[in-house]
Amino acid sequence: MNKVMRALAVFGLGAVLAGSVQAATDEDAILDRIKPIGDVCVEGQDCGSAAAAAPEAATGGARSGEDVYNASCFACHGTGAAGAPMLGNASHWGPRAEQGMDTLLSHAINGLNAMPPRGTCASCSDDEIAAAVEYMVEGSK
Ligand code: HEC
Repeated sequence: MNKVMRALAVFGLGAVLAGSVQAATDEDAILDRIKPIGDVCVEGQDCGSAAAAAPEAATGGARSGEDVYNASCFACHGTGAAGAPMLGNASHWGPRAEQGMDTLLSHAINGLNAMPPRGTCASCSDDEIAAAVEYMVEGSK
């Protein structure tokens, strides 16, 4: 290797190192920005509640129950359309809540009569659907 090449190589390495320090700093932010909505957990990874609780709404992370409700569930559950139990109505939700969260969630995910699977929110994760169900049950006592 001649001197110029060596100088270039050292310079190049320096640039790469400087770049990787920068990259490490920004990595979390970038991963946050590019991760697919509602699909950040890999099987075997323990990220259920932590992922849901992370304050990431503005960067495309898990949506809150209220956000999901407003975007996908309100059309029926805010109006009673198609016979949907209405938010804020204890006599609509009380008997349903008694079935337990597992049953409610399974009906919300798989559908039940006029209740469409995932309430039409195909991009919602199970956690996001669960948050929306909790939002409705908690808001209807
Ligand atoms: C197209 C209208 C419609 C939309 C949109 C909709 N629902 Fe429903 N939902 C219904 C109807 C109708 C029922 C009552 C079904 C029945 O008991 O026959 C229902 C029932 C439910 C129940 C109670 C299930 C049970 O076991 O009693 C849950 C939980 C629920 N919906 C969650 C959701 C969530 C969460 C969303 C939004 C992500 C959503 N729904 C969006 C129409 C809708």
